[in-house]
Amino acid sequence: MKTLVLVFHPNLEESRVNRAIAEGLEHSDDVIVRRMYDLYPDFKIDVAEEQKHLAAADRIILQFPFYWYSTPALLKQWQDDVLTYGWAFGSTGTQLHGKELLVSTTTGAVGYQRDGEVKYTVEELLRPLQATSNLIGTKYLRPFILNNALAISEEEINAYVEQFKQYITTDQELLGLYE
Ligand SMILES: Cc1cc2nc3c(=O)[nH]c(=O)nc-3n(C[C@H](O)[C@H](O)[C@H](O)COP(=O)(O)O)c2cc1C
Repeated sequence: MKTLVLVFHPNLEESRVNRAIAEGLEHSDDVIVRRMYDLYPDFKIDVAEEQKHLAAADRIILQFPFYWYSTPALLKQWQDDVLTYGWAFGSTGTQLHGKELLVSTTTGAVGYQRDGEVKYTVEELLRPLQATSNLIGTKYLRPFILNNALAISEEEINAYVEQFKQYITTDQELLGLYE
């Protein structure tokens, strides 16, 4: 299985968790890691190159820190530019059909529950990506989420990277529409 990991972190130099994930996966077999902010610091995305990588992958992973209960801006730009009509959606837009899509994010906060500080779960806040997955015909795997990412120790980060490697190399369940 070919896995494509698109890492959208605006400042990987200062990142702890997302950087550890990128470094931990970079030399794995059948895994391609793309550091998107390094590739596109000016937000001018090479659409053909991105579509080529997507078309070659079986499992596509969007890895990012949670920003304003959403994604960093470049991931939104990437969606706008790369997931084009007639390629990713529309009657002839079937290039991504049947591939798996995994959203993996890290949050600074805790309290992502109805009775918590945020009031919504991370899965709920990620619905636009789930709806996008529905539109482009990918299988939306249960998101991989790390809360309280600023507070964890180096040891915990290493354990998390190992857990993530395990997660992305084995079969996973899909997330239900309203889970
Ligand atoms: C501009 C900005 C916005 C952020 N917004 C959120 C947020 O909405 N919710 C949250 O839990 N954490 C938020 N954070 C915290 C990041 O998610 C956290 O720093 C990151 O996941 C840690 O991962 P890293 O070690 O890879 O940088 C934000 C951080 C920044 C810089």
